Amino acid sequence: MANGETTVAVTDAAARETGDAPALSVRGMSKSFGPTKALQPIDLDIRPGEVHALLGENGSGKSTFIKCLSGYHKPDGGEVHVGGRRLTPGSAASSHALGCRFVHQDLGLIGTETVLDNLNLGGGYRTVLGTIDGRAARRTALADLERAGVDIDPKRVVSTLSPARQTAVAVARALRPDDSGQPRLLVLDEPTARLPQKEVAQLLDIVRSVARAGVAVIYVTHRIEEVFAVAETVTVLRDGRKVATRAVADLDRPALVDLLVGGELDAVDAEHSAQPGAGAPVLLSVENLTSVEVTAIDLEVRQGEVVGIAGITGSGRETLLSTIFGGVPREVGTVRVGGAALRPGRPDLAIGAGVAYLPPDRKVSGAVIDLTARENLMLADLRKHWRWPRLSRKRERTECAGWFSRLAVRPPDAERPLSAFSGGNQQKVLFGKWLRTAPKVLLLDEPSQGVDIATKALLHKEILAAAEAGAGVVVSSSDTEELIAVCHRILVMRHGRIAGTLSGKDKTVLNMSHLSLGARTEEAA
Ligand SMILES: Nc1ncnc2c1ncn2[C@@H]1O[C@H](COP(=O)(O)OP(=O)(O)OP(=O)(O)O)[C@@H](O)[C@H]1O
Ligand SMILES: [Mg+2]
Repeated sequence: MANGETTVAVTDAAARETGDAPALSVRGMSKSFGPTKALQPIDLDIRPGEVHALLGENGSGKSTFIKCLSGYHKPDGGEVHVGGRRLTPGSAASSHALGCRFVHQDLGLIGTETVLDNLNLGGGYRTVLGTIDGRAARRTALADLERAGVDIDPKRVVSTLSPARQTAVAVARALRPDDSGQPRLLVLDEPTARLPQKEVAQLLDIVRSVARAGVAVIYVTHRIEEVFAVAETVTVLRDGRKVATRAVADLDRPALVDLLVGGELDAVDAEHSAQPGAGAPVLLSVENLTSVEVTAIDLEVRQGEVVGIAGITGSGRETLLSTIFGGVPREVGTVRVGGAALRPGRPDLAIGAGVAYLPPDRKVSGAVIDLTARENLMLADLRKHWRWPRLSRKRERTECAGWFSRLAVRPPDAERPLSAFSGGNQQKVLFGKWLRTAPKVLLLDEPSQGVDIATKALLHKEILAAAEAGAGVVVSSSDTEELIAVCHRILVMRHGRIAGTLSGKDKTVLNMSHLSLGARTEEAA
């Protein structure tokens, strides 16, 4: 995202038409899935130009609320007005016509298609002959991308873009003007779940300028600091109910955490956990690893150690772990696990050698969304319950229940398809899937993306416990606070190389940011 000075024009006509009506008015909206009351009757008002944060633990109903506004779900009851006009329940067309625009948690992009095609999804550029006019489409795409503050070649295939840029494409698509007029309500469901701090700041700039143009914004996040940075109002959900709607100015962090979790957080700190012994065996050893995006990486991880990988988008951080695992081709270099060399490009052999890899994108590579949560949890290692001639279902169920309770997966029903769980709860299942293989080497890419703050603390404990139990752990994360909390040592990447290593008291956000930007001089500025 190149600049923060994005402007989104809202026509005067749109403002006149709606007068002083709230941008969004929700009365008594509710939604159940079978016995699950995902949303209890809920009321909410949002003014034009207001940034309204929507918070709540995993499974508290945020995405359901949003999907009822988008027409994806038909609410069981209640009424919704957008700019004073009534939304037809369950109608995506009505939602769009009233000016509601959405960037969903999974972005809804087609990874194998180009940026241009993704921007055109649902639209299309007609020429007199009824064919799509390539040049016009490209021009419009560039304008759309500029509106979202990014400079991306529309011909790029989406899956080759960083998460930050993929998010920007989704925002650009949501904000593109069309026949139904300008957006009146922009809804962002965890837009920053996978963005590093620097890019979060840029996204927040986009949000502010969208709001300045008179568009109301619903902003879903698990990152509390973002609420204070961008929102005027915050609504907290718990178990499908509204706990409170408050002016952000009236709250501080502890008060908001209290609303969210009903108490204080029990955070971990790697410095106060078991330290890896100096003589502990090296479990993972990487030498001169080079791929398209990383260059000459040397890395050793000892038993009991948690090593962090930091770096901005494009630094190589995002692909290092999958390159070690074998998902991304390596050009040269060696990777050894417990002394034995891993063949390049063979994730299957890596798993056999005791490596577990939690990928950063649960939708694309981590999960089989139509299988049940139990099947997903058991996917990585079926041998445990393999009793000729078939799996021992009972043992499997028992073990599964254990993981569900250990990782606080909600609802505790492993027989549902993974798709019926909220985003954060899906992430817990996938985390458990790899943890249960008791790996020698545990590679975690954005382990706490999309999980709520209480769960994040829980996963951090599990990471340190896995190390204490004898694994060598590598955590790659865009969340610098997370790295400081769980890692004994942090490698900071820049331009595909390791720019420096931080440990002990040197593990600070400032040091990480200086190393990752190569800007030690900024300290004086
Ligand atoms: N398609 C579905 N079928 C059945 N249950 C569902 C479905 N979608 C959501 N649920 C349930 O509804 C509840 C609310 O889920 P929702 O996705 O709205 O949570 P959320 O607040 O967005 O959580 P997260 O922070 O994890 O994204 C959860 O109990 C979830 O399991
Ligand atoms: Mg959600």
